[in-house]
Amino acid sequence: MSLSVRQRRILADMGIPVWRSRVAAAPAIEVPPGEPLAPAAKVPSGAADAGGGAQDAAVVTLDWEALQARVSGCQACAELARERTQTVFGVGDPRARWLFIGEAPGAEEDRRGEPFVGRAGQLLDNMLRALGLDRGHDVFIANVLKCRPPGNRDPKPEEAAACRAYLDRQIALIQPQVIVALGRIAAQSLLASEEPLGRLRGAQHRYQGVPLVVTYHPAYLLRKPGDKGKAWQDLQRARAFLE
Ligand code: URA
Repeated sequence: MSLSVRQRRILADMGIPVWRSRVAAAPAIEVPPGEPLAPAAKVPSGAADAGGGAQDAAVVTLDWEALQARVSGCQACAELARERTQTVFGVGDPRARWLFIGEAPGAEEDRRGEPFVGRAGQLLDNMLRALGLDRGHDVFIANVLKCRPPGNRDPKPEEAAACRAYLDRQIALIQPQVIVALGRIAAQSLLASEEPLGRLRGAQHRYQGVPLVVTYHPAYLLRKPGDKGKAWQDLQRARAFLE
């Protein structure tokens, strides 16, 4: 990839040495055809209440608007439904080639109804800009959970499972060419794995048949800026999947 002056400046601002861009010249990663899909998340019995929500089989038939409406009224996880200001459906281009998936909305996202709007979101926006993208074009950003876990606790597995059909329907409608899982929790949840992030990064994965690349969560990169270069490499690997 040849970088524009603007992209070089953004990379430098992110603390990514510009000479790393030669990683972009690496050959595209081959994913063997017919590689098995990630196992479907199981919904533990009794995990969520009988509020319909994502476990309703009809979710797979919903169009984009109907799905948004269904998500906004979801009562599947009683505590999350009670505590949230609003659901956070996701933001971006419903026909995007890139789908970024984070963990769950935080306080600011819960207030504004949009994912990744805090400091971590600013870094994510910078990463997108470095790729020549922005959240309005060719990118959709979502989370494993559509509701904020109170006190910013980690999502519970049963909450992620209860929310999964919404995300799966989003993926089916968007038909992205690559999914980027942001951080350990998103990666482990999507891949139904307990492997540490270090093992999941760099390995080849698919989710719903779509190539999935695991990288660091932007909030982690704010704490450990020295790993931004590795995140940039992950994004280059993701880019190699685009047609
Ligand atoms: N962290 C996430 O994983 N998602 C958000 O939307 C915000 C912060």
